[in-house]
Amino acid sequence: MAHQTTTRAGKAFVYTIGCQMNELDSELAMATLEGDGLNVAARPADADVLLVNTCSVREKAEEKAYSWLGRMKVLKRENPDLVIGVLGCMAQKEGKLIFRRAPYVDIVAGTAHFTKIDEYVRQVRATGKRILAVGRDEEVETEKRLKARETRQSAYVAVMRGCDHHCTYCVVPNTRGMESSRPLEEIVEECKILVGEGTQEITLLGQNIDSYGKRLQPRRRTLSELLYAVADIQGLRRLRFITSHPSDLKPELFQAFKDLPNLMPYLHFPAQSGSDSVLKRMRRGYTFERYLELVAAAREAVPDMGLAGDTIVGFSGETEEDFEKTIELHERTRFQNAYIFMYSERDYTPAKEQGLPDDVPLELKKRRINRLMKLQRQWAAEENQKKVGTVTEVFGEGPSRKDPDKQEGRNPQNQVVIVESGRELKGQLYKVEITSATDAALYGRLV
Ligand code: SAH
Ligand code: SF4
Ligand code: F3S
Repeated sequence: MAHQTTTRAGKAFVYTIGCQMNELDSELAMATLEGDGLNVAARPADADVLLVNTCSVREKAEEKAYSWLGRMKVLKRENPDLVIGVLGCMAQKEGKLIFRRAPYVDIVAGTAHFTKIDEYVRQVRATGKRILAVGRDEEVETEKRLKARETRQSAYVAVMRGCDHHCTYCVVPNTRGMESSRPLEEIVEECKILVGEGTQEITLLGQNIDSYGKRLQPRRRTLSELLYAVADIQGLRRLRFITSHPSDLKPELFQAFKDLPNLMPYLHFPAQSGSDSVLKRMRRGYTFERYLELVAAAREAVPDMGLAGDTIVGFSGETEEDFEKTIELHERTRFQNAYIFMYSERDYTPAKEQGLPDDVPLELKKRRINRLMKLQRQWAAEENQKKVGTVTEVFGEGPSRKDPDKQEGRNPQNQVVIVESGRELKGQLYKVEITSATDAALYGRLV
């Protein structure tokens, strides 16, 4: 590819691993590069700048990043001017170790530095020297620095970053730092701009979103206040927020769902385990009973609330009895979706540092996860079956990924709904009568 020698802009590609916050950060990093004259490359082979935005939450996620980098090495050999950068949680956690394992990497930029990626690329191109930016000295300067980002029908907006909890298994407080909330006015402003440009659905993001605003100056703010302020924006059709922590979720919040017609009935609040002794070792701050009380309160306030959770099987010391309690929690909660993981021991976590051993054998973890996933799928399918015959409102996302002749969209609970339709329904709100269901999707006809 011929690039101009003066600006040497060219094309950039980003590969994203990890959570929604990473998806957003990748988008923001790309917007930064586009602001500097780079275009988006459709695939790595077309790119002059290659980025991987990484996750450290489980060992597999880190392996994925290294194996991708391994494949990119060939491209660098063919094109020595190619700039390769590692962003995100693994960059933050591993720092210069990444240069040791992958010496052809030019930039390692942690979770507080990714929007300066334009400057780093320019520096590498000018000097040929590597850049390591993983300090925590600065506030995350993200959206503030950005002039533009691509307009999407559905957009993520980060309202806070970092986490003040110390769940013993979790590396996120290490990689993302302590909680820091953006000013309410700034968030509302960003949302208004997005909606003005055509965004119809906004999902507010925070690792621990229920504690939004607790350290803001001159006065603290609450998630509830923020939801009322954003929901009020003219033209915003759907508002969502993730992720909730059962210890910080305030039942008062349920009022917002009743008051705000565009706040969608969906709550992602991970339980992690059903066993009180495991929950205690995880330092989650609630019990089995308390969790189920919250589930009951949510359903009483908002009967059609879609509940999603995360569960870890095989945490340190988990017995068969503990695991049975986790099954019971799933059975009683009847999650619409549950993300179930095998415990993966991580460096820099309280569990590792305080010597909570990773003592459930892999074979047993596998047996437990398979059993729980099977039951969860069965319960989710049963719950979805109950929706057959009902009518739901769907926000269209375009042709179905599985079957391009059909149209796919989401109901208020964020479930995939597939219909037959001769015309494109992307960006439209339409009513669907559900005619059949699986554990993962609802099928129906337009009404
Ligand atoms: N901030 C969010 C998400 C954190 S990471 C929250 O607290 O809900 C996303 C999920 O990954 C967690 O909810 C947990 O279920 C899982 N997870 C975190 N650390 C893990 C580990 N060491 N091994 C396996 N799963 C883990
Ligand atoms: Fe990790 Fe717990 Fe914070 Fe979630 S609440 S990011 S699981 S420490
Ligand atoms: Fe992974 Fe970091 Fe998100 S560790 S889950 S990318 S906050």
